[in-house]
Amino acid sequence: MDKVTVLFFPDNLVANVEPGTSVLRAATLAGVELKSNCGGDGTCGRCLVKVKDGNVRLKSTGAVSQKAKQAGMVLACQTMVEGNVVIDVPKDSRLDEHQVLLDEKEVLVEQDEGLAEGYAIKPVCRKVKLSLTEPTLTENVSDWNRLQAALRSELDCGEIHIALPVLRELAETLRAGDWDVTVTVAQLNGCAEVVHLEPGHSDRKSFGLAVDIGTTTVVVYLIDLDSGLTLGKKGTYNKQARYGDDVITRMIHASDKKGGLQDLHKAVIDTINQLIDEVLEQSQASGDDVHMAMVAGNSTMTHLFLGLTPKYIRLEPYIPLAAETPPVRAEELGLNINPTAFVATFASVASYVGGDIVSGTLVTNMAQSDEITLFIDIGTNGEMVLGNRDWLMTAACSAGPAFEGGGITFGMRAMKGAIEYVEIDADTYEVKVSTIGKMKPMGICGSGLIDCLAKLREVGLIDRAGKIQTDLDTPRIRQGDDGWEFVLVFGEETECNKDIIITENDIKNLLRAKGAVYAGIRSMLKAVQLDEEVIEKVLIAGGFGNFINIRDAISIGLLPDLPPEKYRFIGNSSVKGARLSLLSQDAYHEAQELGKKMTYLELSVGNDFMDEFMSALFIPHTDMTLFPSVT
Ligand code: FES
Repeated sequence: MDKVTVLFFPDNLVANVEPGTSVLRAATLAGVELKSNCGGDGTCGRCLVKVKDGNVRLKSTGAVSQKAKQAGMVLACQTMVEGNVVIDVPKDSRLDEHQVLLDEKEVLVEQDEGLAEGYAIKPVCRKVKLSLTEPTLTENVSDWNRLQAALRSELDCGEIHIALPVLRELAETLRAGDWDVTVTVAQLNGCAEVVHLEPGHSDRKSFGLAVDIGTTTVVVYLIDLDSGLTLGKKGTYNKQARYGDDVITRMIHASDKKGGLQDLHKAVIDTINQLIDEVLEQSQASGDDVHMAMVAGNSTMTHLFLGLTPKYIRLEPYIPLAAETPPVRAEELGLNINPTAFVATFASVASYVGGDIVSGTLVTNMAQSDEITLFIDIGTNGEMVLGNRDWLMTAACSAGPAFEGGGITFGMRAMKGAIEYVEIDADTYEVKVSTIGKMKPMGICGSGLIDCLAKLREVGLIDRAGKIQTDLDTPRIRQGDDGWEFVLVFGEETECNKDIIITENDIKNLLRAKGAVYAGIRSMLKAVQLDEEVIEKVLIAGGFGNFINIRDAISIGLLPDLPPEKYRFIGNSSVKGARLSLLSQDAYHEAQELGKKMTYLELSVGNDFMDEFMSALFIPHTDMTLFPSVT
C-alpha cells in the first residue's frame, strides 16, 4: 500500500505512514511528542490536534470538550490518516515544552556534594595502571593470564572476567604499550570485570553515569570517577509517556501490543541517550570515556530498560521476571557511551518496590541509624520504608498520578510555570500564587496542589469531604464542564490564557491520593504495632520540585501529625543513591544487602489498608484525634 505523508506544524516535521495510521503514531514517528496520558485509548483528552488539510477518519470523538470541538480539535489517537495531511499541534498538547526541574541548584560542578555519611570514595569502576613482565620462551603464560595475575596483585577481588570484544583488543594493546597497560575495571559483587584497555599508562579521564528512570521523568548525572565530582545533570520526560502516563498502561502496551515491549524499551533508551548527549556536551566530555552506568528505577522501568517483559508484574500474584538483573554491556542496550561500558541496575524488593527505593533508602542512611525513620517516595505509587538498623519494612500504595499532575484538570509536573504555592484570603477569597521559575502560571504541580487543598479547606471554600461550598459569594466559584469548580487564576494572568481551575473531581482525586499514602503509613505502623509518635525522622522524596509545605501536607491528612522539624525533603533520592553506589563499592554492596533486609508488606492482602483508606478520604481524616494540631 502506498504511504501517505503527515506534516506537523509548526515544527515542519514529517512522517511517512500507511493509510489507517493514527495521527498520534505518526507524530511519534516524526519526533513530535504529544501528551498521551491514556496511551491512545481516547479517554484522557490530552492529545488534541487540528487537521489543517487532508483526509482523515475519526475512530471516535472521545474525550473532547464542546469548546475544543468548536475550535476544530480532534484527538490524535482517534484520528486515522487516509491521505496526505497537515496537522497543527497546539502548545498545550505537547509533551516536551519544558525542561524537567532538577531538584538541586543548576551548577555544573559540585565541589562539595560529598558522599553519605560513612562512605569514602572508592568507585565501582576505576583505572588501574599495570606494568606486566614481558613473556619469554620459558615464561610463556597467555596474555590474559598474565593480565589477570597483574590485576590480582592490585585488586582485592575474586574472579576476573573480560568480555570477548575487550579480549580481542588485548594482545595488540599490551604490545603497543610495551607491556605497560591501563585497565578500566568494574568491581561489583566481589568480581572484577575488565571493561576497557589502553596501551601505556593513560591519564585519560574516566566517567560514570548515575541514572534515575522514573515513570514520568528520567535524570542523568555525569560523574568524574576519579574526583567524585558531578560534572553535569540533565533531566527530561520519559519518552515512554507517549504509550501512557502510568506503569499499568505501559505494561499493557508492552504485553498486549505487537512490538509493544520494543516500543517501550526503545523509548527509554532514546530518552537516556538524549540526556547522555546533553550532559556530555554540557561537560565537554566524550562518550568513549564513560565506562560505567548505575541505573535505578522501579521494577517496571528496570524491566523495560533491559527489554524484559513486565507482563507478570501486573497479573496476580504480581511476580517480576527478575528481581536482580546481571550487569550488561552498554552496546547490548544501545547506550551512547563506550560500547563495552558496564551497566548495573539495583535489585528490587517486590514488584511495586523497586531499585529506586533501594537506592533511595541507601541515601537516607536509615539502615545505619538507631532512629526509627520513615522514608516516603511520593509519585504515582507511594512507596515507603519504615525502620532502623535492626529492621526495615516496606510497602507500596497506588496513590495515582495526582501528585505528579495526572488526573487533575490543570495538573502538571514540577516544572517552570507550575504553581507551587497558593494563598487564599479568608474574607475576599482572592488568590495569590507563586510559580516555579517565577513565570506566568501554566498549571499546578504536586506541592501546589497540596497547598491549594489545604488553603481551600482552611478558608472554608470546601468542606471536610472536599465539596465546594457553592453558596459563598465569589465569582471564583462556578459551574463548569465537569461540575463545580474554583478559579485559581483567571486567564488574563496565565501563560495559557485560560482560567486555571480546580474542580470537585480534581479534589476527589487528590483526596484518594493523599488517603492512599496516609493509609499505607498507618498500615505499616499497625503491622509493626507502633504508634506514629515513635517515628523520629520522616524523609520525603518525590517530584515535588523545590519544597513541600509540611504544615499543609499534615493539615490535609497526607502526612502524620508530627512536629514539622521531624520532616525533611530529600529530592530525587533515587539518582543520589545511584551516584553514591557508583562512587563507593561499600555503598553498592550495602544497596545489595538492603534489598534482602527489607520485609515487604503487601497492602492488598487483608482489610487493614482498605479500612484505613476509607477513613482517610476526609480532610484531614474521619478520626480527628489522629490530627490534634489541625483545627
Ligand atoms: Fe488520545 Fe489519551 S485521548 S492519548
